Amino acid sequence: MAPVLSAESHARTEAIRARKGGEPVVCLTAYTYPIARLLEPHVDLLLVGDSVAMVLHGHDTTLGATMEMMILHGQAVMRGARNACVVVDMPAGSYEDSPGQALASARRLFEETGCHAVKLEGGTDMADRIAAIVEAGIPVMGHIGLQPQSVEKEGGYKIKGKTDESVAKLLEDARAVEQAGAFSVVIEGTMEPVAAEITRILSIPTIGIGASAICDGQVLVIDDAVGLTVDRVPKFVKEYADLRNEVAKAAMSYAAEVRARAFPTPDHVFSKQDEKG
Ligand code: KIV
Repeated sequence: MAPVLSAESHARTEAIRARKGGEPVVCLTAYTYPIARLLEPHVDLLLVGDSVAMVLHGHDTTLGATMEMMILHGQAVMRGARNACVVVDMPAGSYEDSPGQALASARRLFEETGCHAVKLEGGTDMADRIAAIVEAGIPVMGHIGLQPQSVEKEGGYKIKGKTDESVAKLLEDARAVEQAGAFSVVIEGTMEPVAAEITRILSIPTIGIGASAICDGQVLVIDDAVGLTVDRVPKFVKEYADLRNEVAKAAMSYAAEVRARAFPTPDHVFSKQDEKG
């Protein structure tokens, strides 16, 4: 099949690649049009993460994400983002079987959302999938360390890099993802010195989450960052706002005013006076 090649996606992902060792890459997840609009002026990269399955759809794990879900949210974010590099996650089950399956799914995400790159989880085991997608002209972001799509296989969310064997595997994964042609790689849930070492040895930018301040960039889930997460907040999250409280306060005030017939006021209803203006 003919290569997909989009000059725009290559320009945006190459701009991220060029940030290696330079000004840190700022990345947040986004799943909707208004959030993309609000975040865009402040970030370099918007990730339509498969965390959307948990954050917006209430699934227990990211395994609840589907191609249809990723396409719908990818399209919404693309409508709101004019300048940021937009990366869409490949959901579990859409790329593991073979390089051919991975390419077909990446092509669908790329073409139906208009995004600039796709992201998939895995190291040495997924290197041939990354290579197949990159060779077809679709930029790929890797994802190593803690891989949420493996939560069931691993029996929970396990921090990586605690043993010599785990460190060796991480270094091998990092090199494999780079060699396969990824333009950058997320390092998640990894012991700090190991994430720092991976950042030192790779020539592509590392984007950390629960990793190291030395990474070439950082990513957080937007709902975590603004304090909207209603379940457990992980250790690696810093809440930069308290929207849980703000939403609860707004709902409480609204409910009180509706019950007291204090809303709507004349300002919020239509009358003959409006027609005069
Ligand atoms: O799905 C997601 O939000 C992610 C980030 C946590 C890196 O993959």
